[in-house]
Amino acid sequence: MADALPICLLNGALVPTHEARISPFDRGFLFGDGIYEVVPCYGGKPFRLQAHFDRMQAGLDAIGIANPYPPERWNELLRELIAANGGGDLGIYIEVTRGPEPGRDFLPQSNTKPTVFGFCWRLTPTRIEQLERGFTAATLQDIRWLRCDIKSVALLGPVMLRMEAKRRGADEAILIRDEYLAEGSSSAVCIVKGGCVITPPPSQTRLPSITRLVVAEVVEALGLPLDVREVHIEELYSADEIWVASSTREAIPITQIDKRAVGDGKPGAVWRRVFVEFQALKKREAA
Ligand code: PDD
Repeated sequence: MADALPICLLNGALVPTHEARISPFDRGFLFGDGIYEVVPCYGGKPFRLQAHFDRMQAGLDAIGIANPYPPERWNELLRELIAANGGGDLGIYIEVTRGPEPGRDFLPQSNTKPTVFGFCWRLTPTRIEQLERGFTAATLQDIRWLRCDIKSVALLGPVMLRMEAKRRGADEAILIRDEYLAEGSSSAVCIVKGGCVITPPPSQTRLPSITRLVVAEVVEALGLPLDVREVHIEELYSADEIWVASSTREAIPITQIDKRAVGDGKPGAVWRRVFVEFQALKKREAA
């Protein structure tokens, strides 16, 4: 990931990134008590922003934090953040924590004022030649909690999983719960079998990925069959193609899983069509 750009957002104000400060008593720091979003931005325009706002609202509702801003204010703040950093293609990170308290009590106080932090970084243009080499994944047992639908800032599980994947020489961890595909450590997963794109449905143990919905939209626009259902680990191993999808990586092809080739070991034909259509969709929406 590229470095944070010079201007960030802290509690409603734009501030130089290297000067941003929060209290160590912030519950986000002490308890991981907060949620976040990562929104891609193409040509200075946030992509699928409403879906990200909806998921953020669902997360705040689930953990009982009042949304600090109405949608118009969020829109305004993000516009300012994007403009202050020169626009273009960006990843935007937004975090809302329950805020700082005088001490450390598991039970939050009712009048705590949420902390809002946002920053962005430059997204490098997706070039098909770079993706053609493919990516590797390792399957790991999903050691995370049972509310992965909440985009919690408490990310120790995914951090440990990602470190273990790297130790095994893999770019991403694909998580398995009770023999079934959960998701990637920071991505949604789709497989292709016999020309059909298969991806598991949302549940409490998966993040409702927004990119997965964009991929589904692209798949349907291409007239390809889409099956939303649970995927057994054996199906994962015998898939013709595996893709991992997320807001900043779009959909990328996994060509090796647990050191075995996926299909013929090269990015698949279905992925290529989806990639091209995804780029066209981004261009249309940024125009
Ligand atoms: N994470 N599942 C998990 C566990 C994730 O962390 C992510 C993305 C996704 C994909 O969701 P979306 O398509 O809405 O980005 C699925 C990001 C981008 C992150 O934490 O940086």
